[in-house]
Amino acid sequence: MGKPARPSFIVAVDGPAASGKGTIATRLAAELGLPVLDTGLLYRAVGVLMDRAGLSLDDEGAAAAAAATLSADLLSDPALRTRAAGELASRVAVHPRVRDALLEFQRTFARQDGGAVLDGRDIGTVICPEAPAKLFVTATPEVRAERRWKQLFAQGEEVSYEDVLADIRRRDARDGGRDAAPMKAAPDAALLETTEMTIEQAADAARRIVEAARVRWEALERDDR
Ligand code: C5P
Repeated sequence: MGKPARPSFIVAVDGPAASGKGTIATRLAAELGLPVLDTGLLYRAVGVLMDRAGLSLDDEGAAAAAAATLSADLLSDPALRTRAAGELASRVAVHPRVRDALLEFQRTFARQDGGAVLDGRDIGTVICPEAPAKLFVTATPEVRAERRWKQLFAQGEEVSYEDVLADIRRRDARDGGRDAAPMKAAPDAALLETTEMTIEQAADAARRIVEAARVRWEALERDDR
C-alpha cells in the first residue's frame, strides 16, 4: 500500500487582466510549497494555435479540437505572453466546448495530492467551487493598464498606454459578459482591491487571507477524521 493521499488545499485566485493575480498566485504557491497553474496560458495557447493555423476564432469545433492537443512545450512559448495572445485567448474563451476541453486538466491539477494554486477567471466559480481558499483580485482599469503597459514595455513590446487601456476594457467586457463561465467573484471569495497597493502589499494581504482560510480548513479536516 502506498502512502495515503494528502487532502488537497486548493487556492483559487481569480480576477481581471493585469490585476496582479498571477504574481500573487506564484508567491502564494511558493509560500505554501504547492504547484501553481496559470490557467490563462491554456486559453492563450488555444488562441495562438488557431491563429497560427489560420483558423477563424469563431470556429468553436476547431478551437475545441486545438484545446485537446495542448503540450507542455507550447505552454512555455514566450509568444503566449504577448498582448496579441491575450486578445486571441479571450476570443476563444467564450466557447463552451473550449472551456469543457480544458476543464478536466485544470481539475486534476487542482486536486493533486496536497493541493495547488490556480489563477484565472472561473476557478472559484466553475473549476473548483469547493476550494477552501478563494480570492478575487481587482484594481481599476487605469491602474491595471499601467501595470500591463510596463510589463509589455519590459518584454520589448512597443504599445501606447491608451491602446493597453482599450484592450483591458474590451477584455473585461468580453470576459465578464460571456454566457459560459463569465468572470465573476464566487460568493465565498475574499475581495482584494489592489488599486492603492504595491504588489508587496497585495501579496501580503493575500497571504493573510489564505492563512486564515487554511486554519479554518485544517479544523474542518480534523473534524472529518
Ligand atoms: O489571465 P490571462 O489574461 O492570461 O487570460 C487570458 C484570457 O483567457 C482572459 O482574458 C480570458 O478570456 C481567458 N481565461 C478564461 N478563464 C480562465 C483564464 C483565462 O476565460 N480561467
